[in-house]
Amino acid sequence: VQNLKINVIDDKFVRSNFPKRENNSQKGDYGKVLVIAGSAGMTGAAYLSSQTAVTTGSGLVTLAVPSSLNSAMEAKTTEVMTVPLSDRNGRISAGAIDEILKRVDKADTVLIGPGLGRCDDVSEVVESVLEYSKVPVIIDADGINAVAENMKALSSCTCPVIFTPHTVEMSRLTGLEREYIEDNRLVTAKEFAEENGVTLILKGHHTIVTGQDGEQYINITGNSGLATGGSGDVLAGTVASLVSRGINETVASAMAVYIHGLAGDIAKDKYGIESVTASKVMECIPCALRQIL
Ligand code: APR
Ligand code: MG
Repeated sequence: VQNLKINVIDDKFVRSNFPKRENNSQKGDYGKVLVIAGSAGMTGAAYLSSQTAVTTGSGLVTLAVPSSLNSAMEAKTTEVMTVPLSDRNGRISAGAIDEILKRVDKADTVLIGPGLGRCDDVSEVVESVLEYSKVPVIIDADGINAVAENMKALSSCTCPVIFTPHTVEMSRLTGLEREYIEDNRLVTAKEFAEENGVTLILKGHHTIVTGQDGEQYINITGNSGLATGGSGDVLAGTVASLVSRGINETVASAMAVYIHGLAGDIAKDKYGIESVTASKVMECIPCALRQIL
């Protein structure tokens, strides 16, 4: 293994990089996030990722969902605004692209992928957003699956990109065996981030964040209670929120994994490791932030 220097993320790192709130400020100063997420059967992913962005401090969060889910999402959300999109069998249809790109224009950061499902229309939407966006795009879950099918989508894009794969998604992105990735996490992450010019959050026990310059961070917060459906959606919302505040993508990603893991540790202390749920992790983000800041 060649020359792998790694930074350990701590409280001080997060505190010193977290933007201060000025007395004389307004919601526009705290970041506008557009979340493109959800499909029939996966409204929770859309809810958790968008609501977490509000909870982490973003000024305005808009959630774009297939229109058949819109009423359900309107009922479930309060601070989050929703946009109904052209829908095909409970998933976003390619006909939604114009509306989505108009919304991308108004956002400081875009999160795409949680619970989108996998089909050609979804892939087309993900590729269009990547090609069009000038603001940072965070690609999670089915967004990653879409890009993995067509890595060319990445070369035509000019905006900063952050990927948030777990090991299986990383295997789809790289074509490498899962076991190989597990045994070579640092070097696999570094090569992928440098070669593709992206920030990479390789999730799991001791998540690794790698910048496009190859700089690496390791996270020591979190516990196996986080191995539960939806906790990745909470992380994606945390990342989107911090990026929307104007923090550098790699630093924001490192801060987000630390905050998310700490929220998971607080949830474990409060409810017990077996009963950590993604909603409870989201609920513990305020405590994590208060403890750090
Ligand atoms: N220790 C610490 N942290 C952990 C551990 C662990 N043992 N296990 C998981 N985590 C953390 C990860 O680092 C990550 O932040 O929990 C989060 C899990 O994220 P995901 O793997 O994305 O899980 P989830 O949100 O349930 O997403 C599942 O991914 O494979 C797709 O389509 C599938 O919709 C599904 C989705
Ligand atoms: Mg996930």
